[in-house]
Amino acid sequence: MADQEAAPSAQTWTHRWTFVLAAAGSAIGLGNLWKFPYITGINGGGAFVLVYLVCIALVGIPIMMAETALGRHGRHSPINSMRELARESGASRWWGMVGWMGAFTGFLILSFYSVVAGWAIAYTLEMFAGVFQGMTPAEVGGNFESLLGDPVKLTIWHTVFMVMTGVVIARGIHKGLESSVRIMMPALFVLLLAVLGYSVVESGHFMEGVNFMFAFNPEDLSWDAVLAAMGHAFFTLSLGMCTIMAYGAYMPKKASISRTVGSVVVLDTFIALVAGLAIFPLVFANNMEPGGGPGLLFVTLTSAFANLPGGQIFGGIFFLLVVLAALSSSISLVEPTVAWVIERFPVSRAAATSVYCALVWLFGLGTVLSFNEWSGESAQIFGMTFFEFIDYLTANITLPLGGLLIAVFAGWTMKRSYIYKELNLSLGAFNLWRAMCRVIAPICVVVIFYFSTIEEPLMELLGMAGQ
Ligand code: TRP
Repeated sequence: MADQEAAPSAQTWTHRWTFVLAAAGSAIGLGNLWKFPYITGINGGGAFVLVYLVCIALVGIPIMMAETALGRHGRHSPINSMRELARESGASRWWGMVGWMGAFTGFLILSFYSVVAGWAIAYTLEMFAGVFQGMTPAEVGGNFESLLGDPVKLTIWHTVFMVMTGVVIARGIHKGLESSVRIMMPALFVLLLAVLGYSVVESGHFMEGVNFMFAFNPEDLSWDAVLAAMGHAFFTLSLGMCTIMAYGAYMPKKASISRTVGSVVVLDTFIALVAGLAIFPLVFANNMEPGGGPGLLFVTLTSAFANLPGGQIFGGIFFLLVVLAALSSSISLVEPTVAWVIERFPVSRAAATSVYCALVWLFGLGTVLSFNEWSGESAQIFGMTFFEFIDYLTANITLPLGGLLIAVFAGWTMKRSYIYKELNLSLGAFNLWRAMCRVIAPICVVVIFYFSTIEEPLMELLGMAGQ
């Protein structure tokens, strides 16, 4: 224990509640504000939302507790923690692969995350400049289309966002991460509530929005949508790629994991639902399509701000906060890998960060081009654009797979006494958690994988063959 405490990565957060802020900062981001509403729209609303909530409860919570506990017990960067934990429990070194896969996934996610965060930077400036004042929703939509059509503009904003991420990471966890989450999150929350208030009072279609999100029509539900809902549960909680493990390594021993994880999950889910409730009434009020795709957040809220007294200022502040929320998430995509590099090689944090961010930036150009030069069919991968493919691969495949392995490791492989001590639950609660990790979460992931990626495509294939 003593030598672990002295390990280079064994610094801890300065305040006990900073882990909550940092983990919430990681969880709450574009996933809640941009992705959740738009994929809810694409997947038809109510039934999708219900499956998402069930996945948060049955899969998300137990795995988040597992990841935090593994991180705090391991006290190193995820790759080394996983190896160390496996060794300690007499298991194979191959468990280190979970860390590697996480690093790979983080790289891929950040590459498109940064491009989308770049849109929010562009919108912040345009809002403050008053570009949208008095525009109709159709004009706002046109403005968004023209941003996506311009690879140079997209690259500029993508670059700005990557540099911001790099700077925060390079400054290290105390100065960089802590101070950036402490102020941003509450401010974001207040503004989001203000937009929700506008939606309730002014849109005139609030109940339509509520219905869309919560009316349960089982016939809307395909296995594809179920997979997307589960994948999003991982994405929004930052699970399955060892982010929470990396942050858990900085968590003080005294803090309660269950309470901390509980607060993060509640905050994250609440913000996603509030974002949806703010956005969908505006969709209906403006006669837009709920399944309109990635532009949903940008077009609906911008149209609202465009016609609101003071919208120029509030809209600007809102998108600025979206950028900051994205930043507190993007740093958590980088941290596990950079933590490992500086643990393993004699390089500075700044050098490791620069090289890493430059590589992600380069790969992100694929997403930039997905919306313009590469949007045609000739550039598609399995019928998806580059961006859609990377998004699908990470949210629907590597995150659930990483989460599955973490659950199996914590539930079956790691010595019971170690994890019992970390979680510090009553025996009944511990057994419940363990059953979720051992059985329920893995079954959910495997069943959903099976039906969406094997059974359903197979049936389609057979159906076609039969015609
Ligand atoms: N959870 C963040 C969001 O909702 C994105 C994110 C940050 C993430 N770190 C992650 C997703 C790690 C998966 C894994 O915007």
